[in-house]
Amino acid sequence: MRRAAVAAVGALALLSPAACGGADSEADQKDVEVFTWWADGGEKAGLDGLVATFDEQCDYSFVNGAVAGGAGSNAKQVLASRLQQGDAPDTFQAHAGAELSDYIAAGQVEDLSALYEEWGLTEALPSGLIDNLSVDGKIYSVPANIHRANVLWTNKSVLSDAGVTAEPTTMADFLAALETLKAKGVSAPLAIGKDWSQLMLLEAVLISDLGPEGFNGLWNGGTDWNSPDVAKGLENYKQLLSYTNADRDTYDWTDAGKLLMDGKAGFFLMGDWAPSDFEAKGFADFGHVAFPGNGDTFQWLADSFVLPQGAKNPEGTKCWLKTVGSAEGQQAFNIKKGSIPARTDVTATDYPAYQQSAIEAWKTATQVPSCAHGAACSQGAVEAANSAIGKFSSDQDAAGLQKAMAAAAALGRN
Ligand code: GAL
Repeated sequence: MRRAAVAAVGALALLSPAACGGADSEADQKDVEVFTWWADGGEKAGLDGLVATFDEQCDYSFVNGAVAGGAGSNAKQVLASRLQQGDAPDTFQAHAGAELSDYIAAGQVEDLSALYEEWGLTEALPSGLIDNLSVDGKIYSVPANIHRANVLWTNKSVLSDAGVTAEPTTMADFLAALETLKAKGVSAPLAIGKDWSQLMLLEAVLISDLGPEGFNGLWNGGTDWNSPDVAKGLENYKQLLSYTNADRDTYDWTDAGKLLMDGKAGFFLMGDWAPSDFEAKGFADFGHVAFPGNGDTFQWLADSFVLPQGAKNPEGTKCWLKTVGSAEGQQAFNIKKGSIPARTDVTATDYPAYQQSAIEAWKTATQVPSCAHGAACSQGAVEAANSAIGKFSSDQDAAGLQKAMAAAAALGRN
């Protein structure tokens, strides 16, 4: 829907009796409220790309329902209370995997299987991903992308000024590089944000220490959280945390990213939404490497959109979902967002260099799901893990963390 046409509809609605009634006015019927946590920087740029395609493809009007806060830290609470009060947005962002299963189990989202056939999505999307969007053979959301979580971003000048010339590929290399940075007076050798971003760091360490299969077992019950191997991983995590910014618990991921951009940190562990945010903020002096010891393991997560039960404008939502699943929508979104399209009919050379490498890695690497971003863990498990990791950030009690993570992971097996 073109803006001018929206404005015209709005003007007509002002003259109509329905305009007084609010909810049923013509303008409201055109509105599609899209609920995300993409409010700023690279995330907003990605959303804007998708909205531009929606405006071209759909005769509806985008209404931005974004609630700021990385990983949905604020948005998910607002969403839960809106859903409980019967005030669903027309669509909302949800992660593929266990997090989506929560909404499905609660009966809060509609079955989209028939639309998948109509739009050709069954062929366009990888079957493994569709499995993560399905329960009992029914598909409940449309994925926009695949992100990689286990990436270490670097400030090239900070590293070279400190004489760190080789990329760390093992935990030992990494600890040595962090020690060098510390000795050279870099205030936060490893930048990190609050709870969920610390959980990402713990997950990356456990991928290194347990290997991909052992790591998967943490979430599906195949690996004992109370084993000595996990205890060793937690010790490594504790050691790494000692090189991070002390005020980490008050930082969103963008604040931690700013430490890297400002040259106050040498490394930053974050998903690959980080580089598009750097670019949106004019920072280009960065490099990247898979988290040391993760080898070619690709820790994935996927953002998807749903049709909520009780959406006010289901036809408008369907047009949004069709846009999200379309080749044009995925390209406009992902080029800006830093992720790669969920669709497989992608021309890699249309994308910037980092995404080209991610497109290749997604095909060839060993895939493991992210807990912090809902692929492996239910919302209850993520919340319990975040609170355990936040507690550890201040009390440094590794045995307590091990016990609390075992309990959190048990909540996630649905
Ligand atoms: C994730 C989401 C990403 C990115 C990130 C930081 O949960 O899947 O797309 O937005 O949070 O906010």
